[in-house]
Amino acid sequence: MSLAGKRILLVISGGIAAYKSLDLIRRLRERGAQVRPVMTAGAREFVTPLAVGALSSGHVYTDLFSREDEQDVGHIRLARDCDLIIVAPATADLMAKMANGLAEDLASTVLLATDRPVLVAPAMNPKMWSHAATRRNVETLRRDGLSFVGPNAGEMAEGGEAGLGRMAEPLEIVAAAEDLLDGGRKPLAGRRAVVTSGPTHEPIDPVRYIANRSSGRQGHAIAAALAKLGADVTLVSGPVTLPDPRGVKVIKVERAEEMLAAVLGALPADIAVMVAAVADWRVATENTEKIKKTPGEGPPPLMLAENPDILKTIGHHAQRPKVVVGFAAETQDVEDNGRVKLRKKGADLIVANDVSPETGIMGGTRNSVKLITAAGIEEWPDLSKDEVAGRLAGWIAERLS
Ligand code: CTP
Repeated sequence: MSLAGKRILLVISGGIAAYKSLDLIRRLRERGAQVRPVMTAGAREFVTPLAVGALSSGHVYTDLFSREDEQDVGHIRLARDCDLIIVAPATADLMAKMANGLAEDLASTVLLATDRPVLVAPAMNPKMWSHAATRRNVETLRRDGLSFVGPNAGEMAEGGEAGLGRMAEPLEIVAAAEDLLDGGRKPLAGRRAVVTSGPTHEPIDPVRYIANRSSGRQGHAIAAALAKLGADVTLVSGPVTLPDPRGVKVIKVERAEEMLAAVLGALPADIAVMVAAVADWRVATENTEKIKKTPGEGPPPLMLAENPDILKTIGHHAQRPKVVVGFAAETQDVEDNGRVKLRKKGADLIVANDVSPETGIMGGTRNSVKLITAAGIEEWPDLSKDEVAGRLAGWIAERLS
């Protein structure tokens, strides 16, 4: 009962994802929370107050000017008599109101009147999510101290379109609520960490580049897991389609050289976890114009130059972090190659995995890893990348304690 006795005000706004809020209510209550729902007029077009009330076992608040609602608790008490407000789904419209301090219905008024933590689970069409106006509003709300969970990438409920905009799953929202409510175990409080994630893109010319299949899922999950344990995390990410993890400073880069500069800029740090699939080579001479086909001359030669090895640089740096972790993406001899990398790169731990295409690890959501240290090899079972991240953050915290 991780949420026992917690009072949660759930603001449901008008998006198709409102149907998932019914499950969210159930999940929150299963964990012991009391849920008081507030619905916007839009939400009531998608799910009925009857269904929401049946699942939450109580009154559903809908109207700012209802004498009955005002006599019951009143909008100011509604805004304050709770431990956390969750807005799920949060539409682009409601976020715009929140970012601008509008109070024109019960939901927006409660959100303006509250002094409680607010967790926002956006849900909208990918174009609306990426619109400059929404980006500004999200940035404003983050600066105002609100927390976000999602949106995730995937197919939209309305079909046909894919991209960032799907509401986080109910259990992800529950986990984010648990994190916010429980000051939690913070063994990495006061520690600084730098994490690399994703691929790098090495330009061939202004329109082409060399890349790899890394999705950034594992690196992003590790950054989030370290932050969850209280670390002050800088995530240096190559080009990925993932949302920024919560509570993490994100520096976006394209090339290996930029990644190295950003990592060095994040020193001193106590922890370095280098997860990025850094391209080993870049094109030696930069082509500032698009390379054209010349009839009769065949393909142009591509001369490559070696990129800096970021992990090796950090592992041998004068300001070497106390714990340096690298990954080893292998398709054969996983353990032997991992041991060689541990030594050559000056790491304390190499997390080795088999990225042969049949494992589906590269770009997938699961991972089977072996932990290689000077002391030996430990094999973990097949886990989700989030679980690997959580365990690894725990391993690092123990090593530092
Ligand atoms: N790494 C890095 N900078 C590079 C190459 C790799 O920081 N230029 C890091 C990766 O982030 C990872 C570790 O080194 O933590 C091992 O990466 P991997 O690609 O498995 O090894 P490489 O050193 O590139 O060796 P090879 O490709 O020959 O296996």
